[in-house]
Amino acid sequence: MLARGVAPGKLILLGEHAVVYGHRAIAAAAPLTTAVTLRRRPGPSSLEAGAPSAWPALALLVPPDGVGVTIDSSLPMGCGMGSSAALAVATVRALAQMEGREASFEECFERAFTVERAFHGTPSGVDHAVSAAGGVVAFRKGSPPALTPLSLATPLWITLVDTGPPIASTAQLVAAVRARQAEDTDVAAAIEAIGVCVEEAVCALEAGALARVGGLMRANHQLLQQLGVSTPPLDAACDAMMAAGAWGAKLSGAGGGGVAFGLAPDEAAAHAIGEALRPSVRSVWALRIG
Ligand code: MEV
Repeated sequence: MLARGVAPGKLILLGEHAVVYGHRAIAAAAPLTTAVTLRRRPGPSSLEAGAPSAWPALALLVPPDGVGVTIDSSLPMGCGMGSSAALAVATVRALAQMEGREASFEECFERAFTVERAFHGTPSGVDHAVSAAGGVVAFRKGSPPALTPLSLATPLWITLVDTGPPIASTAQLVAAVRARQAEDTDVAAAIEAIGVCVEEAVCALEAGALARVGGLMRANHQLLQQLGVSTPPLDAACDAMMAAGAWGAKLSGAGGGGVAFGLAPDEAAAHAIGEALRPSVRSVWALRIG
């Protein structure tokens, strides 16, 4: 018997790191997904196809015996797009389907959190919440988390670029910010200021004021620089996207490398910005969000 679960990766539009301190973040399900297929088979459970590095996460969810797992993913791994969260949510969905039922949001959130905690220390939960919920959401951590679906006045065209593998894990980057904010009031103030950007961006997104959203993304990136989580390649990619016509650009996720994105005025601009960046980055996508 085959069972299959699919879940999207995520893009944090604004608010990463500050979300760990109780501020809201705006996150979108990305149109790049991970699919997990399970089949019953004799013997110990094991990975039949997919990246072997995914097995420790899967082993937290899949029963020890009797299951063969295949992973098929269009999501780049470990670069800020929530690949571990998507893997966990897709696995929870596939396991529920194996029992002839559908996994609820609550089940996906709780079970995927076990995996996210094992891999990222004390995550806010934003990555797997948006993977399980889909759409564009404002997320505040908590148990249960507060998740507000946002209705965008107009879809977003995003140029997403991968600047290369991060120099540190999410857990290390979150810990480094925690240490800095405890010692430096400017860093603590930057975290508060990110929270303010997010609240303004919620209103601007719902009003369709996308040039304003772009300005807030740019401000958010500068505040993330103050937290010490940007890198020269991320800054260069954001500057290049602005120079190529983006309304705003920022890193997305924990930082230290990985992905950055620009908010483009329209589809043609999203592709043109991507072409301008292509020679200097690892990968480029033009994505429609919302
Ligand atoms: C990682 O995708 C987002 C961070 O805010 C960490 C978290 O929310 O757990 C950096």
